[in-house]
Amino acid sequence: MKVVVTKNYEESCKFVAKEIIDLVNSIPDAKIGLATGGTAQNVYPHLIKAYEDKKVDFKNVSTINLDEYIGIDPENPLSYRYCMDNWFFNHVNIDKANTYVPCGLNDIESEIKTFNEKLYGDKLLDFQLLGIGVNGHIGFNEPHDSLTAGVHIENLDESTIKANSRFFDSPDDVPRKSITMGVGDIMKAAKIVLIATGDNKVEVMKALLMNDYVTTKIPATILKLHRDVTIVIDEDLAKKAGYVK
Ligand code: GLP
Repeated sequence: MKVVVTKNYEESCKFVAKEIIDLVNSIPDAKIGLATGGTAQNVYPHLIKAYEDKKVDFKNVSTINLDEYIGIDPENPLSYRYCMDNWFFNHVNIDKANTYVPCGLNDIESEIKTFNEKLYGDKLLDFQLLGIGVNGHIGFNEPHDSLTAGVHIENLDESTIKANSRFFDSPDDVPRKSITMGVGDIMKAAKIVLIATGDNKVEVMKALLMNDYVTTKIPATILKLHRDVTIVIDEDLAKKAGYVK
């Protein structure tokens, strides 16, 4: 794994955006896996700015999002579809027909089928953007005795419900289930970039950066098996995790 330590979170967002911009400039019809979550959110304004400055063109890009809550309406401001439209898609020249965020309201079996068709119907993902949960989840792949390779339904971990409750009125309002890419789907992306910041990610960063173990109890550790992963963290997190002095 390559580790990039930036001055601060804002620089991390800029770095990640530049990775995506460079990718699209070299592969104009890039197929990109996108992420939501508070950390990834601030990458998108940099992509929009680059588009406005004519430094990147999203016309032929296609995107697939990692996950979505089950039972949430895409029109709901807390749905990942709503977030992606408002954070990014509505502000650039991407063709919305080429963007896929799983729908949490559709029949589950047919949505899993659609998700797989989107992932594997043409080429594989050129790039996957990731955040990371406090418990090490990627997408919504929560810690278990074993991980699921493909698209599936996941029960949210208590720690995820707690962490994500900041976006909802109360923890009771956080959906309990999600549809997510499996770890195998994520690992098939040609290039993976994970962004993390904040004190609540210190423990998980230690597990990712400070030893060579892979464990299903910290799903992100599977990324150690991928040949092109970049972890982007700020100096503060890098220090607290013991990665830099
Ligand atoms: C959610 C998403 C994950 C994301 C995580 C991190 O649970 N399903 O894909 O990585 O949030 O979120 P944050 O960046 O807000 O800590």
